[in-house]
Amino acid sequence: MRRAKISVIGAGNIGGECARSIAMKELGDVVLLDIPNKDKPELHMPKGKALDLACCGPVEKFDAKLTGTFDYSDIKDSDVIVVTAGVPRKPGQSRDDLVAINAGIVKNVAENIKKYAPNAIVIVVSNPLDAMVYVMWKVTGFPAHRIIGQAGALDVARYKTFLAFELGCSVEDIQGILLGGHGDDMVPLPRLTSVNGIPVSDLLPAEKIQACVDRAKVGGGEIVKLMGTSAWYAPSAGTIEMVEAIVRDKKRVIASAAYCESEFGISCPAGDGMFVGVPCVLGSRGVEKVITFNMNADEKKSMDESVSHVRDLIGITKKLLPELSAPGNATR
Ligand code: LAC
Repeated sequence: MRRAKISVIGAGNIGGECARSIAMKELGDVVLLDIPNKDKPELHMPKGKALDLACCGPVEKFDAKLTGTFDYSDIKDSDVIVVTAGVPRKPGQSRDDLVAINAGIVKNVAENIKKYAPNAIVIVVSNPLDAMVYVMWKVTGFPAHRIIGQAGALDVARYKTFLAFELGCSVEDIQGILLGGHGDDMVPLPRLTSVNGIPVSDLLPAEKIQACVDRAKVGGGEIVKLMGTSAWYAPSAGTIEMVEAIVRDKKRVIASAAYCESEFGISCPAGDGMFVGVPCVLGSRGVEKVITFNMNADEKKSMDESVSHVRDLIGITKKLLPELSAPGNATR
C-alpha cells in the first residue's frame, strides 16, 4: 500500500512547519511547492526546506519522502493538499485587507489543483480564510465535502490556551468548541466549554471567561503585533490536526470552515451556500458531517453577525473574481 501523498502549497512559515509536522508524524510523503523568487532567481526555497527537513529524519526517526518544487505537475494525484499560499498580515492589517492580493493567488492555486490532483481533499489556510475557501470551492468545482478551511482548530486552540493560563490546569483537559468566521467576530462558546466535563462557568468568574473569549478573537492580531507577521506554529498545528483526522480516517470532531446552507441559522439558496466555521466530523471523505446543536439567543446573535461578515467578504471577492458567480458543486 502506498503512503498518503500530501502536498503543501506555499513554502513560507506555515507551509514549512506543516511539512515538518507531516513528516514527524509520518502522515505521508510531502510535496512542498512555491513559486520562484523573482528578485533572487538563484534560490529554490521549497527544495532547500525539503532537503533540510529530510535530514531531520535520521534524528527524529521518521520515514517520509520530501520533495521541494516549483512545478505543479509534482502534486499529481495528491490525496490531501494544504494551501498556505498568499501574503500574511502586517501589523495594522486585518485578515480582510489581504483579499485583493490573495484571491488571485488562491485562484491560480485552485486551477492547478483541479488540473493535477482532481481527487484531492483540500484544506485552505490562506486568508481571509472564509472567502479563500469559497474561491477554492468555486474554481476547482470539487464537491463541497472535499473543500475545508482551517480556522476553528486554531481558534479553539488559542481559546483553550488562554483558559488554561487562567485555570492553571493542563490544556489537554479543556474541551471547547467555536463557531463562525475566522475573523475578530468568531464565536467561542463558554456555555459548551468544560474542564473534563465540569462547566468552566463553575471554575472561573464570568469576566475572566469573557477575557479569554476576547483574547481568542484577536489572538492572531496579538501575534502579528509581536512578530510583525502572522503566526505559524499554532496555525500549522491546527492544520495538521485536520490532515491527521483525514489520512487516518479518525472521524475527529474539529471546528472547520465547511460548506453550509441552512446550519446554525445560515440562510443560503440550495446549492449556493458558503463556508463558515462549524463542528465537523473529519475523515477519509473530508467533511463527513456537520454537527449542529441549538444555540441560545446570544449565541445566535453573535453567529448571525459573524455569518453576515463572511457574506460581505464573499461579496467583495465575487466583485474581484466575477467567475465565482458560476454555480459550485454542493455535493456533501
Ligand atoms: C492566524 C492566521 C494564520 O489567525 O489566520 O494566526
